[in-house]
Amino acid sequence: MTSEGTTNGTAKRRVRARGAKNARPGGKAPRTPSIARRQAEPPPESRPRRKVLAITSGKGGVGKTNIVTNLAIALARQGVRVLVLDGDFGLANVDLLLGIAPQYDLQDHILGDRALDDIVLEGPDGIRVIPASSGVEELANLDEYRTECVLRSLASVEDDVDLILIDTPSGIGTHAVSLSQAADQIIVVTTPEPTAFSDAYAMIKVLSQRPLKCTPSLLVNQANSEDEALEVSRRVQSVAKRFLNLDIEYWGFVLADESVPKSVVRQEPFLSTYPYSPASSCIYRLAGRVLGQSPQRKGVPIAGPQGLVTPDEVPEGV
Ligand SMILES: Nc1ncnc2c1ncn2[C@@H]1O[C@H](COP(=O)(O)OP(=O)(O)OP(=O)(O)O)[C@@H](O)[C@H]1O
Ligand SMILES: [Mg+2]
Repeated sequence: MTSEGTTNGTAKRRVRARGAKNARPGGKAPRTPSIARRQAEPPPESRPRRKVLAITSGKGGVGKTNIVTNLAIALARQGVRVLVLDGDFGLANVDLLLGIAPQYDLQDHILGDRALDDIVLEGPDGIRVIPASSGVEELANLDEYRTECVLRSLASVEDDVDLILIDTPSGIGTHAVSLSQAADQIIVVTTPEPTAFSDAYAMIKVLSQRPLKCTPSLLVNQANSEDEALEVSRRVQSVAKRFLNLDIEYWGFVLADESVPKSVVRQEPFLSTYPYSPASSCIYRLAGRVLGQSPQRKGVPIAGPQGLVTPDEVPEGV
């Protein structure tokens, strides 16, 4: 099934069933998203202007993709024009969690000759999505130069977008770090597990060795309580201060909530399936934080010593 159309008489958005190239066991039946772009509402006073926000982590599976997709929807519901870039180029998940089936994806742009504009499609609540591929090794190990090229071509679809949200792959690999470097704001996600917040610190340390536009901030996902999340953030903050001389801002928490895995199984954002769930409330609070964020200094490398994470630097378990 193929559908196509024009938006404002210019960019075409297409969706199709995943063919043999991208067929996935978890793939949902293709949908035809609305191709008519929402009429832009007057921007709220606090609306960010063409900012790039990267959501990253040291450890995998901490909830980045769920946070990105639902945060995008929460912001869109407040009138922000959001573009989600699935930065996990070789192991894409954003389309699965949104229940959309792209006709084209970043593979067609990076390895083929599709313009980025042809790849952008519309997801729930009018968010726009640049989907990536799954199971393409060449894209998973994309070099810094070609990652940079993708980021540069974002400028061509950026005109009518207020905020670009990047879902990065996990880990301290070059690809995740390069994507984070391009961001005006970086949120490092951890869970209360010691392995996760130890890896979050490692990620912060690796980032601190690069020129960044901001100091990374921290979000605790799957917290059992606000207190637990605060305790985790306090530990990461104190180690980052002591060993990197960095003041890591705590950007809040998302509670552990059954509505998240239930929605993943349904391939629907939990903000849609369980709008009043504890996780949804936390995402709305995070959206408020994104809208109200104070401007970051741009182009200024952040301070921080070089070197590997030593055992001393690993935050103690809670
Ligand atoms: N707040 C939460 N409460 C309960 N379960 C959650 C929560 N957030 C995420 N999960 C679960 O954690 C799992 C991983 O989530 P997700 O795919 O978003 O992580 P990720 O960081 O993007 O993973 P990867 O590093 O592989 O890209 C999912 O099965 C999801 O249901
Ligand atoms: Mg993910």
